[in-house]
Amino acid sequence: MKKIILVFAFSLLLINCKTATKKEKIIGLIAEKAMVVSAREEASKIGSAILQKGGNAYDAMIATHLALAVAYPVAGNIAGGGFMVYRNADGTKGTLDFREKAPLAAHKDMYLDSLGNVIEGRSTFGANAVGVPGSIAGIFEVYQKFGTLPFKDLIQPAIDLARNGITITKNQSEGLSDAKKAFQAVNNYETIFEKDWKKGDVFKQEELAQTLERIRDFGKDGFYKGETANFLVNYITELGGIITHEDLEKYRAVWRNPITFAYKNHTITTMPLPSSGGICLAQILKSIEPYDVSKYEHNSTKYVQLITEAERRSYADRAHYLGDVDFVKVPVDSLIDLNYINKRMRNFSWDKATPSSEVSQGNILGYESDQTTHYSIVDQFGNAVSVTTTLNTGYGSKVVVKGAGFILNNEMDDFSSKPGVPNVYGLVGTKANAIAAEKRMLSSMTPTIVEKDGKLKMVVGTPGGSTIITSVLQNILNVIEYDMGMQESVDKARFHHQWLPDIIRMEPNGFDKITKTKLESLGYYIYEKNSLIIGKVDAILVLPNGKLEGGADKRGDDAAAGF
Ligand code: GLY
Repeated sequence: MKKIILVFAFSLLLINCKTATKKEKIIGLIAEKAMVVSAREEASKIGSAILQKGGNAYDAMIATHLALAVAYPVAGNIAGGGFMVYRNADGTKGTLDFREKAPLAAHKDMYLDSLGNVIEGRSTFGANAVGVPGSIAGIFEVYQKFGTLPFKDLIQPAIDLARNGITITKNQSEGLSDAKKAFQAVNNYETIFEKDWKKGDVFKQEELAQTLERIRDFGKDGFYKGETANFLVNYITELGGIITHEDLEKYRAVWRNPITFAYKNHTITTMPLPSSGGICLAQILKSIEPYDVSKYEHNSTKYVQLITEAERRSYADRAHYLGDVDFVKVPVDSLIDLNYINKRMRNFSWDKATPSSEVSQGNILGYESDQTTHYSIVDQFGNAVSVTTTLNTGYGSKVVVKGAGFILNNEMDDFSSKPGVPNVYGLVGTKANAIAAEKRMLSSMTPTIVEKDGKLKMVVGTPGGSTIITSVLQNILNVIEYDMGMQESVDKARFHHQWLPDIIRMEPNGFDKITKTKLESLGYYIYEKNSLIIGKVDAILVLPNGKLEGGADKRGDDAAAGF
């Protein structure tokens, strides 16, 4: 009898263990052929439906981007900018830069008062904070090069969504309520964004629907010329801004060669300047490549320490060297040269933290906003696109173009208003990122594609300002070093170090006390306040059986859709 009870108890234990293991293995949406992962379910579904109609990843990119402009106005946009990294089924790769530009009348001192001090808020709120938008030019570049379905079919779902309305989520209701005062302060009429929107309310955007119809009917000119351009320029002028018709007409998106490098039998393809993302990602991964990373427990002291030291050195370079290569000389090849990177890591010691003051002389680098958005797409033909797009901070400049219903970016704040003086997020820069007419402001957006053995493995990216680079990095390591699934990887707690301030930001409750205490004893400063989330990663993993697993970040309303 005793024996039977023991066997029974042991079986129960086994069943419990199995259940526990099963519980731990988090699996995202699995699709046989194609998938879209974005910040909103409506947008992912619209993109996926385009793929199901026979469209390719680029058709879906256009439909998803426009749907996000309607369903996720905090960052989705038609008057912001962004970057796309792509990999075609035949292995060809490239990037598109549709980053905003400084207007023609912009100049390096435009945010300074007569005493040479930075005027608070001028580069972040209102008409003067706006860079010349790039998103619609980007969309038409993509369409001309790779689009297959009629353009009207790609934009119509967004028009319908704007006209019929989206359902406000809890996150949106809270975000709109937080931004209400800023919308009121910046605009000279009552915008639809400043009403008391509650979870479950249907939010209709008729003026935006009409703007999208003009883009449908007149193409790129439906935004950069004609009625939409008139609405934009008239309202900007009314509010004292400097963007002109000439600025809009001159805007061009640019195809650029990607940053491509190897990491432990994988090939990483990512964004070059004006994003700092690709250079920093390459520097950090190359710095840690000589180490047997997977031997350190995930998120353990050694893991955090090694990555922190690599990040510290890379972000010091970011602050000093990086800017728009069309305007300043940046030693890109030297910065990602293996000898240089190894030399930078030479003074790393497991015994104590390297103070940031010893890594480089100190310009203080702070945080950028986390209100950007990313979407990843793999189509049924094997093409992949990775797109990160932004208005900069949440709802950008808060300027809502009167009569046209869309929000303008405040991307000018990504420039350095004055060397050495931090912007609203604590960012400083040098001459490399100073303002100049038609220059692109430095970004951290890091849309990325990973291949193994010449085959597509992962499409990844995230919002999160300067934490974008390190969130993308950690998801690459989760998959390559720790063999995690995509959702499992996305769910994992994240940390971030960016040289200065000399602190490790950690998502609260994500790291055990022993790890934190040990790090502190080595001289690291742990900071968990205001770090509720770091990034919102939306990614796709190609599984060994060829199926796709989506990783949609639960930190937001993000969702995957596919078939
Ligand atoms: N505006 C955030 C970025 O481009 O990095």
